[in-house]
Amino acid sequence: MENKIKISHHILLCATPTKALCCKCTQGEESWNHLKKLIKELLLEDQNRPQGIVLRSKVDCLRVCRNGPILLIWPDGIWYEKATPERIGIIIKEHIIKGEILKDWVIKSTSF
Ligand code: FES
Repeated sequence: MENKIKISHHILLCATPTKALCCKCTQGEESWNHLKKLIKELLLEDQNRPQGIVLRSKVDCLRVCRNGPILLIWPDGIWYEKATPERIGIIIKEHIIKGEILKDWVIKSTSF
């Protein structure tokens, strides 16, 4: 039988877009490095985590192109603006771990 890994969230970050339209080029990279570090430190990639693992992907343009870096969380369909390293720390703790959406930082909301 196939051993399926449970996934709680998938985080996509517009980190190094080909055309840096949503923020200064270096900002996305700093946010991405911080996101990776936090996910590791908080053991969010642990396959034994009851809620499932947290996936992360560094992506090119997410087609918002303002107030970046833009960070999208699936399956919630919540798009955060200005995802600086500081904000990412709070987003991970409040949204991913506690399930609380930080409404003031949401630039867009979509769902399936
Ligand atoms: S360049 Fe970041 S969303 Fe388009």
